[in-house]
Amino acid sequence: MKDSIAQEIMEAHDRLAETWAGGIFRELKPNSFSYWSINIIQKILKHILTSYSNVDGILLDAGCGNGQFTEMFIKSLDIKKVIGVDFSENMLKVAKERAKKKGYEARIRLVRANLESTGFKDGIFDVVYLFGVLEHLDNPQKVIGELVRVCKDNGIIILNVPQKWSLAHITFMLFGRNPRDWGTGKRSFKIWEKAKYYKFYTFGNVKGMVGNTNKCKLLERIPVHYIHVVGLASVPLHRLAKNGGANLLDKLDRLFGYIYRIPAGEFLVIRKCR
Ligand SMILES: C[S@@+](CC[C@H](N)C(=O)[O-])C[C@H]1O[C@@H](n2cnc3c(N)ncnc32)[C@H](O)[C@@H]1O
Repeated sequence: MKDSIAQEIMEAHDRLAETWAGGIFRELKPNSFSYWSINIIQKILKHILTSYSNVDGILLDAGCGNGQFTEMFIKSLDIKKVIGVDFSENMLKVAKERAKKKGYEARIRLVRANLESTGFKDGIFDVVYLFGVLEHLDNPQKVIGELVRVCKDNGIIILNVPQKWSLAHITFMLFGRNPRDWGTGKRSFKIWEKAKYYKFYTFGNVKGMVGNTNKCKLLERIPVHYIHVVGLASVPLHRLAKNGGANLLDKLDRLFGYIYRIPAGEFLVIRKCR
């Protein structure tokens, strides 16, 4: 793995683990943009899980990081058992501590592995979830193949896909920090370097990768909007949330759902077929 993007992404997440997404006790202020964003995602996930899956089954949180979604699945979305996988040791430590402190340790298992080859048996997960990971992978095709392999027949795969040439893509390239610099105090504005670590995709790119596995059917595409927008583009949205504009954000959210250039990305909900 030496000198690969994966190595640098792993080191960056190891450095950031303690503070990533608010750390262990993430108590978001109700009038904050993060609160609004995470609630939107929670609503989308609730819709997906109740429409297409079995909450009594086992969910794989692929690239679970500090466990912010592991916690959401267990505590707010009634999933009985979650297996979190990540290659960053420090992220897993935080995810474990978080589960212990919040009392759901018995319902999760954390595994250190590269998503390209997890070592799990074929077809053991009812739901496979990937969020905030596709953009950093050396070999997304291999990871998607692996996620399909470990998903049960008739299970679902929920992929969060960062969208190419979305507002988010553009603002990441202009204002985002190069992941190699995360947690180092440095800042590089070299767009060509950032392009190496932030891969954005068209719907066709990912459909092609999923299609190559020959075992999947697309159930639904759901746009996800602001969460990846950084720098200047996010300032008005943060202001709006702070000043009680959640209703307006909801309206914008619905409007942007129809304009596929603006969303930061989308959830693809995929059924693994026999
Ligand atoms: C941006 S974070 C997102 C974490 C979490 N899904 C969330 O949304 O809070 C990406 C995570 O994916 C992990 N990751 C990236 N590439 C990976 C790979 N090839 N195998 C395992 N984990 C990986 C990183 O260590 C990091 O914890």
